Amino acid sequence: MKKITIAIDGFSSTGKSTLAKQLAKKLHYIYVDTGAMYRAVTLFAMRSGFVESGKVDEEALEQKLDAIELKFEFNSSLGYAEMFLNGENVEKEIRTMPVSKNVSQVAVLEAVRKKLVAMQQAMGIDKGIVMDGRDIGTVVFPDAELKIFMTASPEKRAVRRYKELLDRGENVVYEDILENVQKRDYIDSNRAISPLKKAEDAIEFDNSDLGLEDQFQRIYEHSLRVIEKQ
Ligand code: DC
Repeated sequence: MKKITIAIDGFSSTGKSTLAKQLAKKLHYIYVDTGAMYRAVTLFAMRSGFVESGKVDEEALEQKLDAIELKFEFNSSLGYAEMFLNGENVEKEIRTMPVSKNVSQVAVLEAVRKKLVAMQQAMGIDKGIVMDGRDIGTVVFPDAELKIFMTASPEKRAVRRYKELLDRGENVVYEDILENVQKRDYIDSNRAISPLKKAEDAIEFDNSDLGLEDQFQRIYEHSLRVIEKQ
Protein backbone atom coordinates (compact mmCIF):
# COMPACT_ATOMS: atom_id res chain seq x y z
CA MET A 1 0.00 0.00 0.00
CA LYS A 2 1.24 3.49 -0.82
CA LYS A 3 2.60 5.45 2.10
CA ILE A 4 1.45 8.96 2.89
CA THR A 5 2.56 11.89 5.04
CA ILE A 6 0.35 12.81 7.98
CA ALA A 7 0.73 16.31 9.43
CA ILE A 8 -0.81 17.01 12.84
CA ASP A 9 -0.78 20.60 14.04
CA GLY A 10 -2.48 22.48 16.82
CA PHE A 11 -2.23 24.19 20.17
CA SER A 12 -0.20 22.77 23.04
CA SER A 13 -1.63 19.92 25.10
CA THR A 14 -4.45 19.11 22.68
CA GLY A 15 -3.40 15.46 22.71
CA LYS A 16 -1.56 15.81 19.37
CA SER A 17 1.36 13.64 20.36
CA THR A 18 -0.78 10.89 21.91
CA LEU A 19 -2.85 10.72 18.75
CA ALA A 20 0.19 10.91 16.44
CA LYS A 21 2.00 8.16 18.37
CA GLN A 22 -1.01 5.82 18.26
CA LEU A 23 -1.60 6.51 14.58
CA ALA A 24 2.05 5.86 13.67
CA LYS A 25 2.06 2.62 15.64
CA LYS A 26 -1.10 1.31 14.01
CA LEU A 27 0.01 2.26 10.49
CA HIS A 28 3.64 1.15 11.07
CA TYR A 29 4.78 4.68 10.27
CA ILE A 30 7.58 6.75 11.81
CA TYR A 31 6.46 9.26 14.45
CA VAL A 32 8.25 12.60 14.89
CA ASP A 33 7.47 15.03 17.72
CA THR A 34 8.83 18.33 16.41
CA GLY A 35 8.02 20.10 19.70
CA ALA A 36 10.71 17.90 21.29
CA MET A 37 13.23 19.34 18.83
CA TYR A 38 12.36 22.97 19.72
CA ARG A 39 12.44 22.00 23.39
CA ALA A 40 15.91 20.39 23.06
CA VAL A 41 17.30 23.51 21.36
CA THR A 42 15.77 25.56 24.19
CA LEU A 43 17.43 23.36 26.81
CA PHE A 44 20.75 23.78 25.00
CA ALA A 45 20.28 27.59 24.98
CA MET A 46 19.40 27.62 28.70
CA ARG A 47 22.37 25.47 29.66
CA SER A 48 24.66 27.66 27.57
CA GLY A 49 23.47 30.75 29.44
CA PHE A 50 21.80 32.23 26.36
CA VAL A 51 18.41 32.72 28.07
CA GLU A 52 17.96 35.29 30.78
CA SER A 53 14.61 36.25 32.30
CA GLY A 54 12.80 34.91 29.27
CA LYS A 55 15.01 36.79 26.78
CA VAL A 56 17.10 34.77 24.30
CA ASP A 57 20.50 35.94 23.08
CA GLU A 58 19.71 35.29 19.44
CA GLU A 59 23.19 35.96 18.09
CA ALA A 60 24.95 33.71 20.59
CA LEU A 61 22.52 30.87 19.93
CA GLU A 62 22.78 31.26 16.16
CA GLN A 63 26.53 30.97 16.34
CA LYS A 64 26.26 27.71 18.26
CA LEU A 65 23.51 26.09 16.18
CA ASP A 66 25.98 23.83 14.36
CA ALA A 67 27.12 22.45 17.72
CA ILE A 68 23.63 21.11 18.43
CA GLU A 69 23.12 17.50 17.44
CA LEU A 70 19.57 16.19 17.79
CA LYS A 71 18.62 12.57 17.47
CA PHE A 72 15.53 10.48 18.16
CA GLU A 73 16.23 7.00 19.48
CA PHE A 74 13.47 4.44 19.66
CA ASN A 75 13.00 2.97 23.14
CA SER A 76 11.26 -0.36 22.64
CA SER A 77 10.17 -0.73 26.25
CA LEU A 78 8.47 2.69 26.15
CA GLY A 79 7.21 2.20 22.61
CA TYR A 80 8.32 5.62 21.38
CA ALA A 81 11.47 7.53 20.43
CA GLU A 82 13.29 9.62 23.01
CA MET A 83 15.10 12.86 22.31
CA PHE A 84 18.90 12.96 22.55
CA LEU A 85 20.80 16.25 22.65
CA ASN A 86 24.47 15.86 21.80
CA GLY A 87 24.33 12.21 22.83
CA GLU A 88 22.48 12.77 26.12
CA ASN A 89 18.95 11.51 26.75
CA VAL A 90 17.00 14.71 27.56
CA GLU A 91 13.49 13.30 27.10
CA LYS A 92 12.44 14.08 30.69
CA GLU A 93 14.20 17.42 31.10
CA ILE A 94 12.73 18.95 27.94
CA ARG A 95 9.18 18.47 29.34
CA THR A 96 9.77 20.42 32.56
CA MET A 97 8.22 23.83 33.27
CA PRO A 98 11.44 25.88 32.92
CA VAL A 99 11.83 24.61 29.34
CA SER A 100 8.08 25.11 28.61
CA LYS A 101 8.41 28.71 29.80
CA ASN A 102 11.22 29.55 27.36
CA VAL A 103 10.48 27.39 24.32
CA SER A 104 8.18 29.81 22.47
CA GLN A 105 10.87 32.51 22.58
CA VAL A 106 13.40 30.12 21.01
CA ALA A 107 10.88 28.86 18.45
CA VAL A 108 10.39 32.38 17.02
CA LEU A 109 14.01 32.53 15.82
CA GLU A 110 14.45 32.25 12.07
CA ALA A 111 17.79 30.41 12.16
CA VAL A 112 16.44 27.84 14.61
CA ARG A 113 13.35 27.19 12.48
CA LYS A 114 15.44 26.92 9.32
CA LYS A 115 17.67 24.26 10.84
CA LEU A 116 14.82 22.23 12.35
CA VAL A 117 12.50 22.44 9.33
CA ALA A 118 15.33 21.13 7.08
CA MET A 119 15.89 18.20 9.48
CA GLN A 120 12.16 17.45 9.57
CA GLN A 121 11.83 17.50 5.78
CA ALA A 122 14.77 15.08 5.50
CA MET A 123 13.11 12.70 7.99
CA GLY A 124 9.95 12.62 5.88
CA ILE A 125 11.54 12.16 2.49
CA ASP A 126 10.28 8.55 2.13
CA LYS A 127 6.79 9.33 3.50
CA GLY A 128 5.24 6.82 5.91
CA ILE A 129 5.52 9.45 8.63
CA VAL A 130 3.27 11.08 11.22
CA MET A 131 4.70 14.40 12.35
CA ASP A 132 3.19 16.71 14.94
CA GLY A 133 3.91 20.37 15.62
CA ARG A 134 2.67 23.85 14.72
CA ASP A 135 3.75 24.35 11.10
CA ILE A 136 3.83 20.83 9.68
CA GLY A 137 0.85 21.19 7.32
CA THR A 138 1.67 24.79 6.41
CA VAL A 139 5.49 24.87 6.08
CA VAL A 140 7.24 21.52 6.60
CA PHE A 141 4.96 19.36 4.44
CA PRO A 142 2.51 21.63 2.61
CA ASP A 143 1.76 18.69 0.26
CA ALA A 144 0.95 16.21 3.04
CA GLU A 145 -1.91 13.93 1.96
CA LEU A 146 -3.58 14.19 5.37
CA LYS A 147 -3.56 17.27 7.60
CA ILE A 148 -5.19 17.44 10.99
CA PHE A 149 -5.56 20.55 13.14
CA MET A 150 -6.34 19.98 16.83
CA THR A 151 -7.91 22.45 19.21
CA ALA A 152 -9.40 22.38 22.72
CA SER A 153 -10.16 25.08 25.27
CA PRO A 154 -7.12 26.48 27.17
CA GLU A 155 -8.69 25.35 30.48
CA LYS A 156 -9.15 21.74 29.31
CA ARG A 157 -5.59 21.67 28.00
CA ALA A 158 -4.16 23.14 31.19
CA VAL A 159 -5.93 20.46 33.26
CA ARG A 160 -4.44 17.72 31.06
CA ARG A 161 -0.97 19.21 31.32
CA TYR A 162 -1.34 19.69 35.09
CA LYS A 163 -2.25 16.01 35.57
CA GLU A 164 0.60 14.88 33.31
CA LEU A 165 3.18 16.88 35.26
CA LEU A 166 1.79 15.79 38.62
CA ASP A 167 2.01 12.15 37.46
CA ARG A 168 5.63 12.76 36.62
CA GLY A 169 6.25 13.99 40.15
CA GLU A 170 6.69 17.68 39.28
CA ASN A 171 5.63 20.25 41.83
CA VAL A 172 3.28 22.45 39.79
CA VAL A 173 0.48 24.99 40.27
CA TYR A 174 -2.56 24.83 37.95
CA GLU A 175 -2.77 28.63 37.47
CA ASP A 176 0.87 28.67 36.42
CA ILE A 177 0.20 26.07 33.76
CA LEU A 178 -2.91 27.81 32.45
CA GLU A 179 -0.90 31.02 32.13
CA ASN A 180 1.90 29.18 30.29
CA VAL A 181 -0.59 27.54 27.89
CA GLN A 182 -2.24 30.90 27.10
CA LYS A 183 1.07 32.71 26.71
CA ARG A 184 2.44 30.05 24.35
CA ASP A 185 -0.80 30.07 22.31
CA TYR A 186 -0.38 33.81 21.87
CA ILE A 187 3.33 33.76 20.95
CA ASP A 188 3.02 30.66 18.71
CA SER A 189 0.03 32.12 16.82
CA ASN A 190 1.36 35.66 16.44
CA ARG A 191 5.03 35.18 15.55
CA ALA A 192 6.23 36.52 12.20
CA ILE A 193 7.70 33.27 10.87
CA SER A 194 5.52 30.19 10.43
CA PRO A 195 2.84 31.15 12.96
CA LEU A 196 0.55 28.41 14.21
CA LYS A 197 -2.48 28.39 11.93
CA LYS A 198 -4.73 25.83 10.39
CA ALA A 199 -3.76 24.89 6.83
CA GLU A 200 -6.67 25.54 4.47
CA ASP A 201 -6.94 21.86 3.62
CA ALA A 202 -6.63 20.58 7.20
CA ILE A 203 -9.44 18.83 9.05
CA GLU A 204 -10.16 20.49 12.38
CA PHE A 205 -10.77 18.49 15.55
CA ASP A 206 -11.94 20.16 18.74
CA ASN A 207 -11.41 17.54 21.38
CA SER A 208 -12.48 19.56 24.44
CA ASP A 209 -15.28 17.07 25.03
CA LEU A 210 -14.16 14.06 23.02
CA GLY A 211 -12.48 11.05 24.61
CA LEU A 212 -9.05 10.26 23.18
CA GLU A 213 -10.12 6.75 22.17
CA ASP A 214 -13.11 8.04 20.17
CA GLN A 215 -11.00 10.62 18.51
CA PHE A 216 -8.29 8.12 17.60
CA GLN A 217 -10.77 5.71 16.00
CA ARG A 218 -12.31 8.47 13.85
CA ILE A 219 -8.96 9.77 12.65
CA TYR A 220 -7.54 6.29 12.07
CA GLU A 221 -10.49 5.30 9.89
CA HIS A 222 -10.21 8.54 7.97
CA SER A 223 -6.48 8.00 7.38
CA LEU A 224 -7.18 4.51 5.98
CA ARG A 225 -9.62 6.05 3.50
CA VAL A 226 -7.00 8.62 2.43
CA ILE A 227 -4.34 5.90 2.03
CA GLU A 228 -6.68 3.73 -0.06
CA LYS A 229 -7.33 6.62 -2.45
CA GLN A 230 -3.63 7.03 -3.30
O1 DC B 1 4.28 20.63 21.06
P1 DC B 1 5.05 21.26 22.23
O2 DC B 1 4.17 21.93 23.23
O3 DC B 1 5.99 20.28 22.85
O4 DC B 1 5.94 22.41 21.54
C1 DC B 1 6.78 23.21 22.28
C2 DC B 1 6.92 24.58 21.63
O5 DC B 1 7.67 24.47 20.43
C3 DC B 1 5.62 25.29 21.29
O6 DC B 1 5.26 26.25 22.26
C4 DC B 1 5.90 25.96 19.97
C5 DC B 1 7.14 25.32 19.42
N1 DC B 1 6.93 24.54 18.19
C6 DC B 1 6.97 25.21 17.00
O7 DC B 1 7.12 26.42 16.99
N2 DC B 1 6.89 24.53 15.84
C7 DC B 1 6.72 23.20 15.83
N3 DC B 1 6.64 22.54 14.67
C8 DC B 1 6.64 22.50 17.06
C9 DC B 1 6.73 23.20 18.24
